Amino acid sequence: MNQNQRQFSPIDLFILQIDNGLRTVFGKPLVTERGDPQDTVKADKKIELSATEKTFSARLMRINHAGEVAAQGLYQGQALTAKLPDVRDKMQRAADEENDHLAWCERRVNELGSHTSYFNPLWYFGSVSIGALAGIAGDKWSLGFVAETERQVVKHLDEHLASISDHDVESRAVLEQMKIDEGRHATVAIESGAAELPAMIKNMMALTSKVMTKTAYWF
Ligand SMILES: [Fe+2]
Ligand SMILES: [Fe+2]
Repeated sequence: MNQNQRQFSPIDLFILQIDNGLRTVFGKPLVTERGDPQDTVKADKKIELSATEKTFSARLMRINHAGEVAAQGLYQGQALTAKLPDVRDKMQRAADEENDHLAWCERRVNELGSHTSYFNPLWYFGSVSIGALAGIAGDKWSLGFVAETERQVVKHLDEHLASISDHDVESRAVLEQMKIDEGRHATVAIESGAAELPAMIKNMMALTSKVMTKTAYWF
């Protein structure tokens, strides 16, 4: 049964959030039925990466993984305080797909011989707080947050696709699919009634994500 198809007490919701948080940061996220785009790359299309290409790809994929941890926090925080059950339901599929992104990025970072960001717990719990606050402000604002986050992520994925080596076909396959998904998540949020955020908030979000991406590049 889907989490959102029944009524939960605040304590149930709190425990579910803790469980989600621990899975996101330390465990295995619950993925959807979709396969990993890396597995669609045929063996004869795979190219051996140089050490430099590998290091650079790993850093970018670590940033993407950290971004997905934050996205997961945002969705979970929002679900915690969303007032309308249909808003929660609509956004649940998007939240589930973020788990796919998390799993794909983590696998890729590991295959490139590196580790995910040491600061993931910070990104997660910071985002849960922001998501929950936005939810308290009202569904249209939390959806506005989701829409704006997804827009910024699409922009940032475009930058990664422009800079990552053409040889890294597997990372590129993941990024291309994520870009499609994030664009759709933004559309769903807008169609569900997202408000356009004030420019000041958008700028603050861009600044926060800059701090996160710069940190996750190295650590
Ligand atoms: Fe995502
Ligand atoms: Fe998304």
